[in-house]
Formats: sequence, structure tokens, C-alpha cells
Amino acid sequence: MTPPRVVALVPAAGQGVRLAAGMPKAFVPLLGRPLLWHCVQRLLASGCIDAVVVAAGEHHRDRARAAVAEAGDQVRIVTGGAHRCDSVRAALHTVPDADVVLVHDAARCLAPVSVIQAVVRAVLAGQRAVVPVLTVVDTIKQVDADGCVVATPDRAALRVVQTPQGFTGDLLRRAHQLPSGPVTDDAGLVEALGVTVTTLPGHPHAFKITTPFDLIVAEAVAKAVGSG
Ligand code: C5P
Repeated sequence: MTPPRVVALVPAAGQGVRLAAGMPKAFVPLLGRPLLWHCVQRLLASGCIDAVVVAAGEHHRDRARAAVAEAGDQVRIVTGGAHRCDSVRAALHTVPDADVVLVHDAARCLAPVSVIQAVVRAVLAGQRAVVPVLTVVDTIKQVDADGCVVATPDRAALRVVQTPQGFTGDLLRRAHQLPSGPVTDDAGLVEALGVTVTTLPGHPHAFKITTPFDLIVAEAVAKAVGSG
């Protein structure tokens, strides 16, 4: 029997406006290498991904190809879209044969190999949709349009969601066919189908690099853990 084909999609077509680095976030250097390089390096180092599809900005495909050149033909570059979900959809279209699909933000380039492996293992073991999560340490307030507090949800029931998120290929393809506005993660689309999304422990290193502060933290983390 052929083993299941496991593919990782990497949305990397964001502008990185909040990082304000003068270039798309995926190409911002971290210890001398683009964030995209770190992301793809970890995915492949997990040993459980057959192929990676990177969605890059329309005018940045060559740069993306150069950033991951050393990975060879295990990595393909496609053109992303206006929103993250458009970029994921564009990448997903190119892998109709994938049995398991991970979606992993280029901006979470320090997600440990152990988390990547755990997500793949969970889907191979029968979970159809899996997301890595952290508990919430801060108290969260819900506010109205004027910034006035309207509710204080019980933080024990809240989770911060990370990537890689893992899905069976069929389910993710069905989820992306749904008409929807721009959603911020793929599990949200699966939830809209009424399918249960399960969680597993995420990791602090899988945080999303968004602001200049995050980049300082990322440099400290990358120095401490190396490229693995
Ligand atoms: O904007 P945000 O930080 O939520 O983006 C998360 C990930 O989605 C980033 O890796 C970014 O490059 C990617 N993205 C994309 N296409 C877009 C917008 C964001 O691939 N149009």
C-alpha cells in the first residue's frame, strides 16, 4: 500500500506591514537567513513532510524560490492572494493528491519540529482537523466599538491557536470550497462545516512574528535553539 502523502502549505504572501521592515515579512532575515528559510527548514527536518508548497506574493516568487533553493524540488512556489485564506487556497489547488495537509504560517518559523511531528501523527492516527494551542495567561475582555468592556470570558476555556494546523486533504479541500469572508485560520473553515477540530499542545516558540518586538524575541530564541 502507498504511504499517505503529507504536504505542508506555507502562506508567505503577507506584506508584513506591522513589522515595517521594508520588505515582505517572509524575507526578513533572522540570524542571516529569511524567515521563510527557517520555516521550510524545520518542516523538512521533521522527516514527515513529503512536499512543501509556499504561497509568495505576486512579485516575490523568484525571491521565495531563492530563499528555499537548497531544499531542492521538495519545495514548490505558487502565487498567493489578497488574504491569507486566498494564499492557502492557491497552494491547496496544486496538491489535489495530498492525503494529509498541514497549513503553517511562514511567520511562525520557529515552531519546533516536535510540534510539526505531533500534528502529522494526530492526523495519521485519525483526527481530521488538529490545531496546536496554548492556554491563555492573561485575562481577556470583550469590548464594544467604543472600547467599553461588555464581557470577561472565562480564560480557562480559551486557547491561543498556532500553526501548523493539520487536516485530512479531503476535509480541507471541502472547507475551502465554502463561501466565506477572509478568515484568519483554516480550522475556522472546518468548524463552519460542523466538523470537530481537536487540539494538542502548542509551543511558545511557535509564536507569530508580527512586530519589531517579536523579531527581537525570535532572534533570542533562534540563538538559543539553533535551526532545529
Ligand atoms: O497577516 P498575518 O500575520 O496574520 O499572516 C499570517 C501568515 O499568512 C503569514 O505567514 C503571511 O505571510 C501569510 N499571508 C499570506 N497571504 C496574505 C496575507 C498573509 O500568505 N495575503
